[in-house]
Amino acid sequence: MRGIVLAGGTATRLYPATLGVSKQLLPIYNKPMVYYPISLLMLAGIREILIISTPHDLPGFERLLGTGEQLGVRFSYAAQPKPGGLAEAFIVGKDFIGSDSVCLVLGDNIVHGANLAKLLQDAAHQREGCTLFGYRVTDPQRYGVAELDANNTILSIEEKPKAPKSNLAVIGLYFYDNSVVEIASTIPRSARGELEITDVNNVYVQRGTARMQVFSRGYAWLDTGTHDSFLDAANFVQVIERRTGELIASLEEIAFRMKYITAAQLAERGEAMKQTDYGQYLLAVARGDA
Ligand code: DAU
Repeated sequence: MRGIVLAGGTATRLYPATLGVSKQLLPIYNKPMVYYPISLLMLAGIREILIISTPHDLPGFERLLGTGEQLGVRFSYAAQPKPGGLAEAFIVGKDFIGSDSVCLVLGDNIVHGANLAKLLQDAAHQREGCTLFGYRVTDPQRYGVAELDANNTILSIEEKPKAPKSNLAVIGLYFYDNSVVEIASTIPRSARGELEITDVNNVYVQRGTARMQVFSRGYAWLDTGTHDSFLDAANFVQVIERRTGELIASLEEIAFRMKYITAAQLAERGEAMKQTDYGQYLLAVARGDA
């Protein structure tokens, strides 16, 4: 399976913070926002990762992430010239995907909770159809909203409905079989001129091959869309990390624990950042002390 991180867009709701820099390169507490979605792909076992951003911001991601060799993964980069919708990821990424299955994650989605790696790996192992993740929220009208029947089968998904049929938001993490490439190239543009991910998902719903995994209580799915939710996300990460002494979405740690890199490689990364608690943590993990 291949992974795509969609990290473009203009983030106008965060102006002026994002006038000079891509939102997904801004830090959520102690690491760039894009680390969090990349961590989900790596935990799912995905090592071939395409980063899509605007032509203007792409060099910043390349500076940050490089080839991926230091994390035991491979990063490729592609530009989305204009923000024409989330499903454009499969058009921009067509050659990268080839005949493989693919996981799309939005560059601003943060998920944290117990046994997350297992949930992600189970989704990555499905051979047919798609796996979507649902999260109960108090403001579903801001998201794609799924209606389920008593057996957890998806009846419909509506994008930002004025009168939501449930409080179950579809989060920005989607696992697809290869037919997503063909589906994305055949759906029409929406009224706002975008290729909507919800339209893609509804094709799977109609075919009866869409699965929904609902996150249970205790999981966190955080939004970074506004100044306040951005700060809330940073505070959440700080609280959990300080309380537990474990980092959320440290790509270097995940690479080591997934056996993509050795303890010596991890220590090298820690050494390069040793003046920070982050670097000290990596050194401790490499020694087996954390
Ligand atoms: O976060 C989950 C939600 O993401 C889903 O519940 C919705 O169904 C889905 O449409 C999407 O809603 P948003 O309103 O959050 O989408 P937004 O347009 O804000 O884009 C999400 C991220 O993707 C954002 O960081 C910018 C980036 N993006 C967006 C578009 C439209 C791109 O990189 N390219 C694009 O063309």
